[in-house]
Amino acid sequence: AETGCLSIIVLGASGDLAKKKTFPALFHLYCQGFLPPNEVHIFGYARTKISDDELRNRIRGYLLGERSSSPSEDVSEFLKLVKYVSGSYDSAEGFQLLDKEIAMHEISKSSQEVSSRRLFYLALPPSVYPSVCRMIRKYCMNESDLGGWTRVVVEKPFGKDLDSAELLSSQIGELFDEPQIYRIDHYLGKELVQNLLVLRFANRFFLPLWNRDNIDNVQVVFREDFGTEGRGGYFDEYGIIRDIIQNHLLQVFCLVAMEKPVSLKPEHIRDEKVKVLQSVLPIKDEEVVLGQYEGYRDDPTVPDYSNTPTFATVILRIHNERWEGVPFILKAGKALNSRKAEIRVQFKDVPGDIFKCEKQGRNEFVIRLQPSEAMYMKLTVKQPGLEMSTVQSELDLSYKQRYQGVTIPKAYERLILDTIRGDQQHFVRRDELKAAWEIFTPLLHRIDNGEMKPTPYQQGSRGPTEADELSAKASYVQTHGY
Ligand code: BG6
Repeated sequence: AETGCLSIIVLGASGDLAKKKTFPALFHLYCQGFLPPNEVHIFGYARTKISDDELRNRIRGYLLGERSSSPSEDVSEFLKLVKYVSGSYDSAEGFQLLDKEIAMHEISKSSQEVSSRRLFYLALPPSVYPSVCRMIRKYCMNESDLGGWTRVVVEKPFGKDLDSAELLSSQIGELFDEPQIYRIDHYLGKELVQNLLVLRFANRFFLPLWNRDNIDNVQVVFREDFGTEGRGGYFDEYGIIRDIIQNHLLQVFCLVAMEKPVSLKPEHIRDEKVKVLQSVLPIKDEEVVLGQYEGYRDDPTVPDYSNTPTFATVILRIHNERWEGVPFILKAGKALNSRKAEIRVQFKDVPGDIFKCEKQGRNEFVIRLQPSEAMYMKLTVKQPGLEMSTVQSELDLSYKQRYQGVTIPKAYERLILDTIRGDQQHFVRRDELKAAWEIFTPLLHRIDNGEMKPTPYQQGSRGPTEADELSAKASYVQTHGY
């Protein structure tokens, strides 16, 4: 592993993302020994003029999160590594000062010169990415002769449509090479999302079944049982398709649908993702249902006339040998009846069925990403007893039971560690991002222009009933033909 100084610079240090996700992830990495205090320093950078201690106090409360097992001494020790620098996002002075602080720390960590690693985490709105990247490029690059690197980590939204995303990509691309840019999609850090490649390609069971001959439809579903809660302003500009479907669900879709990569090298995996994205056919209006929960517009930051969907079901169809005709039903919604993210692979009915299994439901393979990670296969078995009757049961792998005592790392923890290690497998490549926007841009423009309107649905419901009808119809047509 690389050694030498490691500086992690969190830009937007006093914002929500930094407090809730970035710093807690860094803290947990620290507790597990991945951020050795003799090598690491963490800098918060933001516009607010506060002291080191004020920043520490602001983040302290968020560090433990759900894991109260870490002792409070750890928190204090960790916070000692955190320093604050204030400055604007487009001023030379701020970034010159930041560079000075980083260099001072690099010298202080060792009497001799050492290589320097600089990780810039942009917990900022994308509108300032170009200027921040320019400043980093100009004033804050690692220039040690002894090696090291400079990397930038960026968060979605990466643009609002194809053109704006391409513009952003080229602005950043002029300043940094692709291996220096880490585009986070935190779904790629989830345990069961990372498991998808293993499941699909390390199990003989699935290899022959994973295609149009056997699979009727695939559903990738995201539900939240709360609304936009204080993020109405941001959300209204983006909507559920840009917030969840175009990135999180589409990444899951890629891993379910892509072909086997040549190897586990990040470039090989991402090549396959791009290919499957490029094979997606244009989305048809009649294969989309949009919804908006009642009360969404009551948020003072949301305009009364808002046309923004908080729910969407979109069917994707892949034009290739494996998947022709199989609907991939992507569904996401806020303020629904439960909080859940899962993948449901529904198999076709058994041909020439002699047991009347159809009544009980079909074979299904479910991967639950959250809550309570699990995967289970629904299958038909004989009802135990003297009668010859059948019943649907499950082969169940529930992580809580099977891996008792194992802490599943948080997505951000894993992904930040990858950025330090230089592993880009779980990050979105530029051409992948472009292909993702190509799929959704025409639909998004129709919604933005008011050509498609969301149907109101009640908070705490399943979403618009049209969405269930669309899913049912798509799988019926697939099985029975028109
Ligand atoms: C974020 C979205 O990317 O993901 C949020 O902006 C959403 O709207 C969140 O709530 C969901 O993440 P998770 O990990 O809780 O499923």
